[in-house]
Amino acid sequence: MSMGRVFAIAGKGGVGKTTISALFISYLAKRTGKIVLGVDADPNYNLGDRMGIDVQKTIGDIREEFQKSADETSEVSKQEKVAYYLQTSTQEGHDFDLITMGRPEGKGCYCYINSILRDYLDEAIGKYSSVVIDNEAGMEHLSRLTCKNMDALIIVADATAVGLKTAKRILELALSLDINIKTTALVVNRIPEGMKAENIPEGFSAVYYIPCDETISRLAMEGKTLELESSNPAYMAVKEMADDLLMRCKGK
Ligand SMILES: Nc1ncnc2c1ncn2[C@@H]1O[C@H](COP(=O)(O)OP(=O)(O)OP(=O)(O)O)[C@@H](O)[C@H]1O
Ligand SMILES: [Mg+2]
Repeated sequence: MSMGRVFAIAGKGGVGKTTISALFISYLAKRTGKIVLGVDADPNYNLGDRMGIDVQKTIGDIREEFQKSADETSEVSKQEKVAYYLQTSTQEGHDFDLITMGRPEGKGCYCYINSILRDYLDEAIGKYSSVVIDNEAGMEHLSRLTCKNMDALIIVADATAVGLKTAKRILELALSLDINIKTTALVVNRIPEGMKAENIPEGFSAVYYIPCDETISRLAMEGKTLELESSNPAYMAVKEMADDLLMRCKGK
């Protein structure tokens, strides 16, 4: 069984993780001709929105329903439950599937949803040729990351000195954890026209630059699906990033 590539997108709040995830998923599907799995691992999810999917059910929602309807002590194995959760929460796009993690009900903890997702991701990398995980902001979630093996950890940052320092900190934390990361990338996003990013930290295997783009801003303001022309500069930059990352992950 050939294994799919897993790309995890991280970074501090509002830097463009979801935007880049959405564009990356679209391009990967186009380029590979295969269905890509997108995973929205942000409890405050919106990857579906950006990709034109009306998210009906998150894993969190399904679990809650299940808990209400079924006796938790019944003879349903965890495996059966997991299969049910995932089947019900996977939503199909034109050339991608999307799973939205959601949040645990009430004061519940994330452990259960995380463990479901972790089991599933192990399975999914056998089923899909690429998996893209859009993560929650910050670095707290890194320690409870659902995926312990990834081909690339992509850290998104804004083009400021402080933003880039944060990205470096996230990288250092990730590398100190028990996660197997094959390659790391820094994405400097929203670079204003005519400016060059400075203060690029060392330590990333690759650095990519994405320009600030008016069409992205407009679509976000209008609440429209993120669809860009193939000639759009930001899309072209994501395409370049994707092509390079695929090349780096080839001989793994
Ligand atoms: N290259 C870009 N050019 C213009 N606007 C952008 C660009 N990248 C992202 N944005 C805008 O910045 C805002 C934040 O982007 P996004 O939601 O992708 O960030 P995020 O890191 O996923 O945020 P969160 O931490 O809340 O999940 C959005 O309104 C998005 O449209
Ligand atoms: Mg986001």
